[in-house]
Amino acid sequence: MRSKSRGRGLDARSKRVDVAPYTMLAQFYDEVMDHVNYRAWASYIDKMAVKRHDLRRGRALDFACGTGTLLTYLARLGWDTVGVDASSPMVEEAKAIKPPRGRVMQWGVYSFLETPDVEPCDLGICVYDSLNYLLKEEEVATFFRNAHEVIRTGGLLVVDLSTEINSRIHFNGSAMEEHLKGGAYRRITRYDEEERIQHNVFNIYPDGEDTVYVEHHQQRIYMIQTVLDIARENGFQPKNVYHELTFKPGDETSDRIHIAAEPV
Ligand SMILES: C[S@@+](CC[C@H](N)C(=O)[O-])C[C@H]1O[C@@H](n2cnc3c(N)ncnc32)[C@H](O)[C@@H]1O
Repeated sequence: MRSKSRGRGLDARSKRVDVAPYTMLAQFYDEVMDHVNYRAWASYIDKMAVKRHDLRRGRALDFACGTGTLLTYLARLGWDTVGVDASSPMVEEAKAIKPPRGRVMQWGVYSFLETPDVEPCDLGICVYDSLNYLLKEEEVATFFRNAHEVIRTGGLLVVDLSTEINSRIHFNGSAMEEHLKGGAYRRITRYDEEERIQHNVFNIYPDGEDTVYVEHHQQRIYMIQTVLDIARENGFQPKNVYHELTFKPGDETSDRIHIAAEPV
């Protein structure tokens, strides 16, 4: 087991409580993700929108904003932002963000299966394997239909997907432990090839408690073509499939791909 933990005795806790994904993880999420260069992600999405798809910087809506870090960097690049997410603990963390001067940053709790009650947006984003949390194709179809309601004609939707090769190579049987400010967590991964489901179990150990909180995250690993077809059938014209954080073509050999699709 890969261990970045300074803590000891995590297994000594006497209580175990199962909680929904991103309930307890929310308070530790930014530290868990501190290896991610969100500034580079924001710059990539901004370039894609402005340079590749001729968008003027306007309103960007993140459908799975998490704790809002990506939107912070997009706001610094000149976008007004709306961040929504199904997890209210994640959105609560995001609400602590102070918008850059002159920029508007709004937040709300909405699932992919709802149409967010927001003004029309120029750019929609749904990144870092978030759409993979939808386990059924019908739900992915609902997501695209909802996105179509709120992204204006001439706008752009950027959605990424984690691929099967990523699950097989990096998330099948790995285990890691990390000590954080205020707690620790252990993550165990398993990929079910038959069901195409990625299982990640997070055991979360807040300091000063005798309880371990367990979050079982499940993500469906879709074929890229399946999602492109669903997008087409539900109001979007996919324009490009990019290889992770580049403008090279992405395919099933990429760890992650970004679909850039325009509402029609
Ligand atoms: C891996 S995190 C990514 C968060 C953020 N995009 C980032 O890059 O840090 C996945 C996010 O998807 C959200 N999510 C999962 N299922 C969802 C759903 N059905 N509707 C809306 N958000 C969902 C989670 O709450 C979580 O914030």
